[in-house]
Amino acid sequence: MNFYVMTLFPEMIQQGMQDSILGRASRNGVLCLDAVNIRDYTEDKHKKVDDYPYGGGAGMLMQAQPVYDCYKAIRDGIASKKGDGYGKNTRVVYLTPKGKTFHQKMAEELAKEEDIIFLCGHYEGIDERVLEEIVTDYVSIGDYILTGGELPALVMIDAIARLVPGVLNNEASANVESFYNDLLEYPQYSRPEQWHGKGVPPVLLSGNHKKIEEWRLQQSEKKTQELRPDLYDKYSRRKNLAEKLAKKNKALYADMSESLRRGLGELVYEGEDGAVVLDENAGTCFLAAFLEQAADKIVETIPIDADICQFVLHQEWLMPSMERSYRIVEKNVCRRAIYTQKIPLAVPKNVDIRRLDKSYLEEVSSHYSMGSKEYIEERLENGSIYGAFLDNKLAGFAGEHIEGSLGMLEVYKEYRRRGIGESLEAYMINHQLSKGYLPYGDVIERNEPSYKLQQKLGLKITKETFCWVVIEK
Ligand code: ADE
Repeated sequence: MNFYVMTLFPEMIQQGMQDSILGRASRNGVLCLDAVNIRDYTEDKHKKVDDYPYGGGAGMLMQAQPVYDCYKAIRDGIASKKGDGYGKNTRVVYLTPKGKTFHQKMAEELAKEEDIIFLCGHYEGIDERVLEEIVTDYVSIGDYILTGGELPALVMIDAIARLVPGVLNNEASANVESFYNDLLEYPQYSRPEQWHGKGVPPVLLSGNHKKIEEWRLQQSEKKTQELRPDLYDKYSRRKNLAEKLAKKNKALYADMSESLRRGLGELVYEGEDGAVVLDENAGTCFLAAFLEQAADKIVETIPIDADICQFVLHQEWLMPSMERSYRIVEKNVCRRAIYTQKIPLAVPKNVDIRRLDKSYLEEVSSHYSMGSKEYIEERLENGSIYGAFLDNKLAGFAGEHIEGSLGMLEVYKEYRRRGIGESLEAYMINHQLSKGYLPYGDVIERNEPSYKLQQKLGLKITKETFCWVVIEK
């Protein structure tokens, strides 16, 4: 991932990144940081980059010309590395107290970019005309005023970079998926066992990993309740809804409860009459109306400005209400398959299974008809598609969909009837189990071969059907 920082103080950025984990990642080539001095681009012979504001007022403003030319040089550099037109889509983040407040979800979203340009202001700000032309995101790191954007840029780079695969040694430490993420860290202890007359909680010395996990969760809940009641409220609402849905029908609502548990979806509505969960990153909204009369009310709770392209309707009676509010262009009736056991499946050793990278884009998209090329590219970039290799040749693949279900299972014609589909699915189930997930998949009604495979692997299939609908954007 490449970070470009437009600044009047490039040393401040370089020094901030030199040491620590980010410094190592940068030396290893996982990250690249380019601090570009805006002053190098001024046309003023005295190297001036600021001037008085029109209309009067205190202080000086950074002028449009050096900022724009600095940006243009970075953008042209990106375009020449990656191909024409590329730099035009690069996000430009302007650090300003007037921006949207930075948070973890924003870091996760930005970590998916290949290049980001940061613009650090100084003095009283920057000429509005250049901001209008180049800035895509206005971001603040909190409600206080700093002397410039360099520290905020470093804060953002640190939070984003640690999410980039390969930056942290231990990948699990950046695992952001779980509603436990709404909780504060549990207390930790290191040697010696006694210090200032204080011991270590005995459970941590017990070697019982299950008990240790339980204790840590309890401690996290307690600390969050005490110190951040706002976070605790969010956490308990998500947790309660996930539990309530699982009690009602674990398999039918596995998509909603897993979306909440894995930290993908937000709780939009929860009541006696139904529930709504929105995963904006996946463009998917999940609806449940427990009572037929509640259908209109449930549909009305969908946020109008949300970026949604598909819905999962868990009851048939939601359809008329949906049709009154949206133009539906595609509809697929499905049943849910879930793997409820905790023990991993035995994966037959008939193939070698490996994660696929972006170099497989053409091959995967030519064999998979249920998603666009852009979607497959996103899934490959996310590391969510795995391939089965026979004699080093790709024989099929399977993956995790953006909203969390297992699927995309495809075995090439010439390799069918050899148990490769079974190996791929068993592998994916184990992969999700290792992340603490409840593995589930959506099977299109009447896909008999898929039902057979699910049953063979021990998955339960719902008698209830539900509906995936795609709407006109
Ligand atoms: N520049 C000055 N103060 C700032 C803040 N709080 N966040 C982002 N940029 C800033």
